[in-house]
Amino acid sequence: MTLAFERNGSLCVEGVSLADIAARFGTPCYVYSRAALTQAYLSYTDTLRAHGLIDRAMVCYAIKANSNLAVLNVFARLGAGFDIVSGGELARVLAAGGSPDKIVFSGVGKKPAEITEALKVGIHCFNIESASELTTLNEVAARLECIAKISLRVNPDVDAKTHPYISTGLKSSKFGVAYTEARAIYRHAASLENIKVVGIDCHIGSQILDPAPAAEAVDKLLALVDALAEDGIVIEHIDVGGGMGITYRSDEIAPSTAEYLAPTLAKLASRKEKLIFEPGRSLVGNAGLLLTRVDVLKHGIDKNFAIVDAAMNDLMRPAMYDAWHEIVKVQSTPVGADDTPLQKRTYEIVGPVCESGDWLGHDRNLALNEGDLLAILSAGAYGMAMASNYNTRPRAVEVMIDGCDAHLIRQRENAAQLFALESLLP
Ligand code: LLP
Repeated sequence: MTLAFERNGSLCVEGVSLADIAARFGTPCYVYSRAALTQAYLSYTDTLRAHGLIDRAMVCYAIKANSNLAVLNVFARLGAGFDIVSGGELARVLAAGGSPDKIVFSGVGKKPAEITEALKVGIHCFNIESASELTTLNEVAARLECIAKISLRVNPDVDAKTHPYISTGLKSSKFGVAYTEARAIYRHAASLENIKVVGIDCHIGSQILDPAPAAEAVDKLLALVDALAEDGIVIEHIDVGGGMGITYRSDEIAPSTAEYLAPTLAKLASRKEKLIFEPGRSLVGNAGLLLTRVDVLKHGIDKNFAIVDAAMNDLMRPAMYDAWHEIVKVQSTPVGADDTPLQKRTYEIVGPVCESGDWLGHDRNLALNEGDLLAILSAGAYGMAMASNYNTRPRAVEVMIDGCDAHLIRQRENAAQLFALESLLP
């Protein structure tokens, strides 16, 4: 939310003006701040240090939130681990300089080929989500003559009180194994020759603003860890997943990392297990924005539309979750095209894609001219990562600001690249 600030009539990120970025790299353009990424990561490590837990904790960035190599590299240089959900994400982490032994592999449907790659590079742990997956993993590990370290994702059945599409810890969820079945699955896992039980994990949802559900989930995990000890199964690490929310709207204040983690860490402080955290959104969400230009203003009978050059294919969250992103002008334009003072109007901020669902903001009160630049805030998480080429639209460029430097970290695609892998019939 606070990523961009005004200087000399233009919004800036760190030492670079967004108007300059648009002129240099074009729009739509995702802009990230290295300083903001770093600060977000350090808020986790500082909190863990303050609780005396840093020496037995690992922060594994959930790369699904934003998997640009430069973003991953910033975190790798800070010593982060990574939470991945596919072979593609594994390849990205390795290409970005991440250590294999700090990788946890989540996801409900890992393929044998993906498991093979992960075993070959020696990842830290497989977060297992079903008994069937355990069988597959044991078989692949046997073939490779190695031991696979596993954690079981247990569904603690707590309500994260977030959007239903991103709530994952309820009984009805496709994720994890039922709490009541976990002990039996652990016993089965412990009996498998090429499996070593090392951990337990959960992830109850995303964009969670209340610290209580995470702490409640930890209580349930701890009870299970103690029950497993009675079965002779030693749990070396507890992975509490990700989920901490961020501020998207100015009237919705997210807790700080320290506030969010305090009740959870209080429950873990007296334990001896190692700890793993899998934050995604909270590390990148407010470290990025989407820069877009107003191409067309259309004053309809019922509504005013500002048609911008970013669309639902660039930022899917509004269309998919009805999500709110603040939209602000990059430069103030006091007069309109006819030199009269520019009036604010209520606009629908929409993209050029042929869908009624292609909107980025409803009812935004802005004074706009065609050609104005807008910044769509809090777009660093699940923005570019969920972008598509719908309508054969090249995806946005990505730029990382580092002090007074702006680095192009992903070029814009061209149309030919978008169909380069397609072929005509003979
Ligand atoms: N760990 C696991 C196993 C996950 O499934 C996720 C996110 C995370 C960690 C990171 O959660 P975070 O800290 O980012 O809340 N596309 C949606 C969010 C989907 C989250 C999926 N899982 C959105 O744009 O809101």
